[in-house]
Amino acid sequence: MATVRRQATTLITMLRRLGILATLLFLADSLLARFSRARILLIILRERDQLLRENVELPAGFTVAVRSPEQMRNVGGFCGASLGPQFLSDAKRRHDRCVVVLDNEEVINFQWLSNGLTLAYDDVWVGFGPRYLYGYNSLTAPTHRGRGLNRFSVLSAGQLVAAPAGKGVAGYINATNVASILSQWNPANQQLGIALVWPRGGNRLWVFASRHCRAAQVTFARRCGAGALLPGALG
Ligand SMILES: CC(C)(COP(=O)(O)OP(=O)(O)OC[C@H]1O[C@@H](n2cnc3c(N)ncnc32)[C@H](O)[C@@H]1OP(=O)(O)O)[C@@H](O)C(=O)NCCC(=O)NCCS
Repeated sequence: MATVRRQATTLITMLRRLGILATLLFLADSLLARFSRARILLIILRERDQLLRENVELPAGFTVAVRSPEQMRNVGGFCGASLGPQFLSDAKRRHDRCVVVLDNEEVINFQWLSNGLTLAYDDVWVGFGPRYLYGYNSLTAPTHRGRGLNRFSVLSAGQLVAAPAGKGVAGYINATNVASILSQWNPANQQLGIALVWPRGGNRLWVFASRHCRAAQVTFARRCGAGALLPGALG
């Protein structure tokens, strides 16, 4: 009963705040996940000039900093515990950057930015064309959620790292990740694309990408053999 009530609340929140399309995609993704490996992803694209137009205000009492993967090695607390050594060495190899929000000296939110193909989920990799850095792996410590910190760090990652490099930021969110969609939803200042990503047998990958995704040159790939990445067929 409690589960049904929670699901009904989620649906009402989605309908009220995100509209009918996002709600339908949420339902479709929930359904697909039950019987296949296909996932629906919302692709969020922020151009450089859109990033620079946004007014980013850090809630009082926090600070923001840009860190390298090496500097993230000794981070403690909930955020540090979620960064494994393999993740950090992959990020180092790609020269990724991390924007962190600090409460005193403690990292309580991070947002990563990459210029290369990056593991998205399962064995699926994702990357975007040269106009964008890929914004990925954002996290707020559970003690600090719901205070606007993720919204702030996603935008300030764009302003502090991507815009000075002449780029915008692109990223994806699973259509069922309601908290993340809510924290990033601002259709007035971003383009939204939809991708259906379906890993098949034999390392095959079938991808449907909407017009905005194609314009952003989104690439999805799977590992094939010893390390090589095999791009999916775009449908
Ligand atoms: C997704 C996540 C990063 C959001 O972090 P956050 O700091 O709590 O998000 P924010 O406070 O910036 O959210 C901003 C908006 O989203 C809303 N929101 C965030 N989480 C919500 C939730 N679970 N339910 C309802 N609304 C939510 C906030 O109310 C706020 O809206 P408002 O300013 O209009 O009131 C955090 O929940 C998290 O770390 N989740 C686990 C990891 C994850 O899913 N990462 C994203 C991968 S794409």
